[in-house]
Amino acid sequence: MSGTIDSILVENRVFEPTADFIAQAAVPGMDAYRALYDEARDDPDGFWARMAREQLLWRKPFTRVLDESDAPFYRWFDDGELNVSENCLDVHLSNGNAEKTALIFEADDGTVQKVSFRQLHARVCRIANGLKSLGYKKGERVIIYLPMSIEAIACMQACARLGLIHSVVFGGFSTKSLHQRIVDVQASLVITADEQMRGGRAIPLKAAVDTALTEEGTDLVRHVLVYRRSGGQVTWHADRDIWLHDIEAGQADTCEPVAVGAEHPLFILYTSGSTGKPKGVQHSSGGYLLWAKLTSQWVFDAKPEDVFWCTADVGWVTGHTYITYGTMAAGLTQIVFEGVPSYPDSGRFWKMIERHKVSIFYTAPTAIRSLIKAASADPAVHPSNYDLSSLRLLGSVGEPINPEAWMWYHENVGGARCPVIDTWWQTETGGHILAPLPGATPLKPGSCTLPLPGISVDVVDESGQSLPDGRGGFLVITRPWPAMIRTVWGDADRYANSYFPPEMQGFYLAGDSAQRDSDGYYWIMGRTDDVLSVSGHRLGGTEIESTLVAHEQVAEAAIVGRPDPVSGEAIVAFIILKGDLPDETQAIAIAGQLRDWVAREVGPIAKPRDIWFGNALPKTRSGKIMRRLLKIVAQGEEVTQDTSTLENPDTLKQFRGAY
Ligand code: WTA
Repeated sequence: MSGTIDSILVENRVFEPTADFIAQAAVPGMDAYRALYDEARDDPDGFWARMAREQLLWRKPFTRVLDESDAPFYRWFDDGELNVSENCLDVHLSNGNAEKTALIFEADDGTVQKVSFRQLHARVCRIANGLKSLGYKKGERVIIYLPMSIEAIACMQACARLGLIHSVVFGGFSTKSLHQRIVDVQASLVITADEQMRGGRAIPLKAAVDTALTEEGTDLVRHVLVYRRSGGQVTWHADRDIWLHDIEAGQADTCEPVAVGAEHPLFILYTSGSTGKPKGVQHSSGGYLLWAKLTSQWVFDAKPEDVFWCTADVGWVTGHTYITYGTMAAGLTQIVFEGVPSYPDSGRFWKMIERHKVSIFYTAPTAIRSLIKAASADPAVHPSNYDLSSLRLLGSVGEPINPEAWMWYHENVGGARCPVIDTWWQTETGGHILAPLPGATPLKPGSCTLPLPGISVDVVDESGQSLPDGRGGFLVITRPWPAMIRTVWGDADRYANSYFPPEMQGFYLAGDSAQRDSDGYYWIMGRTDDVLSVSGHRLGGTEIESTLVAHEQVAEAAIVGRPDPVSGEAIVAFIILKGDLPDETQAIAIAGQLRDWVAREVGPIAKPRDIWFGNALPKTRSGKIMRRLLKIVAQGEEVTQDTSTLENPDTLKQFRGAY
């Protein structure tokens, strides 16, 4: 690990929860937090059984809580049966929420559409009935490639209703990524839209599906369901394409939920790891939903009258847990936003908070930083121009939030009255792990504070030994928790090796470095592998490297992240061409081609910001690329560290960039 991790953070500001907030909070005060925390630590089985019985509706009650007999393949509530969609929708038809607004959809162009829990339930049932009539059955895999929409959420819920396993692919990924996922999950159904609307532009989606399905390994796909979003042109394959509205038409508004075992996979979501291919993170039905719902209630302090807005896309885990599942099970009214924060101008988020009287706002530091920048360039889009008095809680997720951005968010968006809840978690953890409880935990800007009740974490060295406070090391989760990843789809060895490597003594290795301060607060320092965080999106460096090397002109490639004030990290590529070192004009042309190539093969979000050309990559004598040194070059700095382990130290001086 790099030396920066051990640097001691100096952050003395502490923000205590206000008496008003504590008085009404789900977990009121630190004593209440400690009571829950201790209950879970001292009697984990009793705690989780109590929570699972109180929070979820079971079709068949469980008698076992945690089965550790095949660790690290943990099983939770495994003889119990339930249906996730019933827990998210049907429960609200009889608890007074039926006519309550479940979703407020705001389209890219500002058009608004609202659905109540009753209407959403009926919609989900019609879609589920349609899927049933096409012959889809429990356990089949469904790829969902849709824009942010009520339809995307309804389709996920319809899958859950029938025990179909969905895998949502973010609309910003390209044909190639889509194809990989269709093949890896062996999908029999793909659900997409004609186009998606973002920032006033229509971007084709169905066309990408059409191309993906011409490739090998996709023969199992029986149908492509198409949601008509824009009315744009699509090529129609009558033998397999069906409009979503056609399968819904004439269907009944009710559909019996299919009871599944608690361990039945609810979904598979791909995420980047430290080696080439993205991993299909497999989540369960029972344990996942329990934690999704509990954390929605605890961490967001959910109240019946709240209007909750999570700005994440359902293509990422944040949108799964805190739009489609946890927050819906908790009965919250939620905003679903199709567009981007900068369209028609960078006041869009603030305008929407004002318009819909949002009370809980959950976004990523990268969005906050870009809006800080926009507001300082153009005072008209500063949050002070909008009535944000409906806000009572602010959340942050996806990357470390720097104390300056935290303070700006707190003061300018939250009017210095809303707690800023920095939530650390991952696709693999299913829900929040380290996060403050707003009515209990004193806040320190830049820290995700303390583990939630039921969660045990530690900071350890290379051999899994606990480190003292103030020392940087590997963040681990030391006990299993209900929403944890169950396996990597189709690759159990990869699951065991990447998350439970032998040296970590059975702890879950998060892949982040962290340190704990003397108050027991956690500070996340960044990834310990080559995973990059670009505008809050998790991308694999090696995946982009392999894509670049597959280009006909490229001999070798290395990807590193360079700190960027807005996007967190910017992608920097070091390229060795098969031919000679290009001159200036050639370099500009090739850099353009390589960017287009990455956009096509992986997705526009993975395009390198800077491209450097050289004659050789710096490698150790054993042939490992020294990314640590390239990181320094990427920042335009001189390498002053000892480079004696390099096979050829001069390689660092020859890079020409940055295009
Ligand atoms: C990073 C997103 C610091 C971290 C929910 C983690 C964070 C990766 C935070 C997971 C936070 C997420 N502070 N870093 N509050 N939240 N991260 O799977 O590096 O897309 O490992 O899940 O994002 O990204 P993922």
